[in-house]
Amino acid sequence: MIYRAAIFDLDGVIADTARLHLIAWKQLAEGLNLPWTADTEERLKGLERMASLEVILGEKSSNYTEEAKIALAARKNSRYQELIRSLSPADLLPGAGELLAWLNSQHIPVGLASASKNAPAVLEALGISRCFSVIADPEKSAPKPAPGIFLAAAKGLGIDPEFCIAFEDAPAGVSAIKSANGMTAVGIGNPDSLKDADYTLDSLEQFVPYDFFLSVLAESGIRQNMNIDKRPNEKID
Ligand code: BG6
Ligand code: MG
Repeated sequence: MIYRAAIFDLDGVIADTARLHLIAWKQLAEGLNLPWTADTEERLKGLERMASLEVILGEKSSNYTEEAKIALAARKNSRYQELIRSLSPADLLPGAGELLAWLNSQHIPVGLASASKNAPAVLEALGISRCFSVIADPEKSAPKPAPGIFLAAAKGLGIDPEFCIAFEDAPAGVSAIKSANGMTAVGIGNPDSLKDADYTLDSLEQFVPYDFFLSVLAESGIRQNMNIDKRPNEKID
């Protein structure tokens, strides 16, 4: 397949911020004396804020008015924003910084398709805002597992979905990619829960971009000047 662009989820793919979302939700659940079951963490992955709150409230949801729910989501978000204040480039997950730098160095367009309204602040804290030419707005697309945010990112990059490869840690995100008009899904994490992905990896560190973007390199003439066996983590003169 000839890929021409890369699209990333953020939380749990580029940084370990999925963990920070969980800490903030867990504190909220404890404060409300709501149960936190073994599958709560997996069910929360990739869900937008209000859908996550419904998972937390569970069968107690009908005890809360819409106004009360908005206040609870705001409370969780304040706690999350406190937690992300301490983020720095050291919090990039293995392989993320290197892959973004390589894609940028090869002029391969890079987009973000995160459900998080805090994504721009997180990218800034991680020092990688300038690596992305498009940050799709989660408020303008139906939430994952709908494909809208991935399609919006591809459109913003000006690349047809079938030429985009996208990275996700959440089952809902993988479903979104797989219904995005031929986009390819790379699942990051547990292969059992990400079985619909085209590829699954433990981390971005295992992704060898040279193998996926070879044709772009060939078209841009870079390949003519390089040893075909070289991998992107080796120096390309
Ligand atoms: C997703 C996370 O990226 O963003 C979810 O996986 C989170 O855990 C969602 O709920 C929405 O984030 P935010 O920052 O807008 O509340
Ligand atoms: Mg995620």
